[in-house]
Amino acid sequence: MSTVRVLTGITTSGTPHLGNYVGAVRPAIAASRAPGVESFYFLADYHALIKIDEPARIQRSTLEIAATWIACGLDPERVTFYRQSDVPEIPELTWFLTCICGKGLLNRAHAYKAAVDKNSAAGVDPDSDVTAGLFMYPVLMAADILMFNAHRVPVGRDQIQHIEMARDMAASFNHRYGEHFVLPEAEIEESVATLPGLDGRKMSKSYDNTIPLFAPREQLKKLIAGIKTDSRAPGEPKDTEGSALFQIYQAFATPAETAQLRQAYADGIAWADAKQILFERIDHEIAPMREKYESLMRHPEQLEELLRAGAAKARRIATPFTTRLRHAVGLRDLRAQDGAKKEKKDKAALPSFKQYREGDGQFYFKFVDAHGRLLLQSAGYASPKDAGAAIKALSQDPTALQTALSAAQLAPAAGVSPADAAAALHQLREAQAE
Ligand code: TRP
Repeated sequence: MSTVRVLTGITTSGTPHLGNYVGAVRPAIAASRAPGVESFYFLADYHALIKIDEPARIQRSTLEIAATWIACGLDPERVTFYRQSDVPEIPELTWFLTCICGKGLLNRAHAYKAAVDKNSAAGVDPDSDVTAGLFMYPVLMAADILMFNAHRVPVGRDQIQHIEMARDMAASFNHRYGEHFVLPEAEIEESVATLPGLDGRKMSKSYDNTIPLFAPREQLKKLIAGIKTDSRAPGEPKDTEGSALFQIYQAFATPAETAQLRQAYADGIAWADAKQILFERIDHEIAPMREKYESLMRHPEQLEELLRAGAAKARRIATPFTTRLRHAVGLRDLRAQDGAKKEKKDKAALPSFKQYREGDGQFYFKFVDAHGRLLLQSAGYASPKDAGAAIKALSQDPTALQTALSAAQLAPAAGVSPADAAAALHQLREAQAE
């Protein structure tokens, strides 16, 4: 397959603002037009449930975001544009991944850790007000990505860890059940600057400093008039450095226009005039899309139809792939028994011993689990025969482990309990007995 699959999700928990447009919507739509890419864009409404408990807001945001992407030029014929909750295969895959994902991995997720740290600082129970949904967030996100075997996932920096976790889960699943998933990579758009908001900080819903992308013309004008500036009077030269107004202008203007405004700053343009220029420039780009947006908002049935068609398209991939995954994990038609025996032969990931010689001339071995993680490390033996005899004892005799540990011939690896090692030895013995 030579095409690259690119996928990204948008949580349906707010109203799109200029920062979203510049940072995500506009570059994504441009990228979706590139040759050789197959793009998937979806409304992450299951994710929204983690943050929002007002049903009407979820519905409203889903409508607004769908209308925004279409109004901004996303071509649903060319890409696959769908709503997460229309693809029931995604929660099914979430469960498969839940069963291979280490709980410890999720403990380390930034969003969960931040919640725990905040609670600990406040002296309340660490998990106070933390839902299992928040905890499981990275698994649902991994399912979104792995379901379509996306190669690249354009996201903000705050999401990089989630993509790494998705890779981790994909690798664990592949290791256990065979090669099913592509390992995805995060794609961070370096050239897209973050847009400042009304107060000069990053434009973000959580700072309450946003300019809604499709604010009506008059409201847009008013909001722009409210952008924070310094108190320099008309005629006084102004600094472009640190000027939110200038940065926002730059995100919409051509380099030549930007150079002109820079000159106007140096020449002491009045803030009111600069704001007028910014307003006109933004409105020029937004106005045609705003018209489309308003029309779509008046016709939710058009978006509903479009999203359902998108889901059908997505499921043409998701449904057969899920059939394959169900089979891989063992959720199978009981009448089809023959595959089972064959598979056991070629795919039984087991713990194993690894023997080697060190620079000190002595002979050592390690015991690793099915994923290659170190469980036990031996001390040095004078001959390979001695090391081999120790391995043989461990793999045949359940009491040999305790004896070797007590004699310090063997040590558990950091973070491994003797019980873990014993369980893995047991697993190996069982498999060998078969
Ligand atoms: N978590 C992402 C965000 O908050 C949204 C999202 C959900 C997503 N599933 C995804 C992004 C899958 C990329 C791929 O921005």
